[in-house]
Amino acid sequence: DTGMFTYDPGFTSTASCESALTYIDGDEGVLLHRGYPIGQLAEESSFMEVSYLLLNGELPSAKELHDFTHTITRHTMLHEQLATFYRGFRRDAHPMAVMCGVVGALSAFYHDSTDINDPHQRMIASHRLIAKMPTIAAMAYKYAAGQPFLYPDNSLSYTGNFLRMTFGVPAEPYEVNPVVEKALDRIFILHADHEQNASTSTVRLAGSSGANPFACIAAGIACLWGPAHGGANEAALNMLREIGTPDRIPEFIARAKDKNDPFRLMGFGHRVYKNYDPRATVMQQTVREVFDALKVNDPVFDVALQLEHMALNDPYFIDKKLFPNVDFYSGVILSAIGFPTTMFTALFALARTVGWVAQWNEMISDPAQKIGRPRQLYTGPTQRDYVPLDKR
Ligand code: SDX
Repeated sequence: DTGMFTYDPGFTSTASCESALTYIDGDEGVLLHRGYPIGQLAEESSFMEVSYLLLNGELPSAKELHDFTHTITRHTMLHEQLATFYRGFRRDAHPMAVMCGVVGALSAFYHDSTDINDPHQRMIASHRLIAKMPTIAAMAYKYAAGQPFLYPDNSLSYTGNFLRMTFGVPAEPYEVNPVVEKALDRIFILHADHEQNASTSTVRLAGSSGANPFACIAAGIACLWGPAHGGANEAALNMLREIGTPDRIPEFIARAKDKNDPFRLMGFGHRVYKNYDPRATVMQQTVREVFDALKVNDPVFDVALQLEHMALNDPYFIDKKLFPNVDFYSGVILSAIGFPTTMFTALFALARTVGWVAQWNEMISDPAQKIGRPRQLYTGPTQRDYVPLDKR
C-alpha cells in the first residue's frame, strides 16, 4: 500500500492476451503450433507450410501450399530504392541495426498494404514481410562483406533462395546444398513463433495503436536484438568459443553460479521453460546431421555437449530448473553453415517474422481489440507542493 492506492495482490493472471497460435507448457517442455507438436513439424514439415499454418490455422492442402509459396516467392524482391538505403550504413554496422532500419523504412513504401482495417491489405503486408526478410537479411550480409547484392531466384525454395542470395556471387553459379537447405529450413521452423515472448509482445503493443505494420515489425526486431532474447544465439557461440576446451568449462559454470558475477550461461534458462526446451532437442540432433554432411570437425560442439552435461548435473542448475534453450546449439549449426555470429540474430528475426505477423493479424482482426495500456505499481513519493527555487 503506497498511500496512493492498494495494489491488489489477488490479481494473479499475468495473461496479456488470448491467442490460438502457440501453446507452451513450460513445466513439461511442450510447444504446439495450432495444436501440432514442434518436434513433428520440425521433422515432417517445411517453413512455408508452418508459415501457412500459423497464418491460417490449418495445415495447407497441396494446392494451398503451392499457391501460398507462389505468392511469397513473388514478393521476395525489394524496391530498388531500398537497395540504396543500405549505402547510408557503415560497412561494419551490425546486421540487426541494418534490419531495424531497412524494415522500418518499408513503412515509407508499399502503401497498398498499410490500411490495417482492410484484411486483404493486412495479408499483403504479412506476405511481403515474410517474403522480403530473407532478401533484406542477405543484403545486410552482402553489404557488410562488400559484395554485390544478388536478386532473388524464384526457381529456388524459400530457404534455398536465402542461401544463394547470401553465399552466391554473380561470377559463378551457386549450388544449394540440400542438407544445409533442410537444416536451415528446420531452424526457421524452430524460430517461427513462441507465444508472447518479449519481441512478439512488442509487436502486439506497437500494433495495438494502429501503427504501420512494417514499423511494428521493426520494433520487434529491436527487442529481439537484446542478448537476453534473440541476441543469445550470438552470445552463446561467442561464450562456447571463449571456453574453447572442455577443461575450462568448470571455470565458466562457477562464474554463472556466482551472484557477484553478471556472467550467465548464454543459451541456458528461460522465462517459461522449466524443463528442456523442445526446440533445443531438435537443434542438437540437427548439429550432428550438418556436421556429418559437411564433414565439420569443430571442437565447439563437444564443448557445448560437455557444458550441457555438466550443467544438467549441477545442483545449482537443477534447483533453478535451468536447461538449454533454442539459442544454445543454433549458433553451432549456423557457424558450420558459414554464417558469421553477427548474422545469427538476423536469421532469428527472419524466421520469427511469420510469428510476429500472425500474432499481429490475430490481434488486429479481433473486433474487441483495444490499444495496449499496461499499468504499474507506483513506488514514488505521495502528492506534495512545489518548492520555489529560492527555498530549496
Ligand atoms: C529466447 O520468451 C521467449 O519465448 C524467448 C524465446 C523465444 O523463442 O522467443 O524462447 C527466445 O529469448 C530464449 C532465451 C535466450 N536468452 C538466453 O539464453 C540468455 C541467458 N539466459 C538468461 O539470461 C535467463 O535465463 C533468461 C533471461 C532467459 C531468463 O531469466 P530469468 O527470468 O531471470 O530466469 P529465471 O527467473 O528462471 O532465473 C531463475 C534463477 C535466477 O537466479 P536467482 O534470482 O533465483 O538467484 O536462475 C538464474 C537467475 O539469475 N539464471 C541463470 C541463468 N538463467 C537464469 N543463472 C546462470 N545462467 C543462466 N543462463
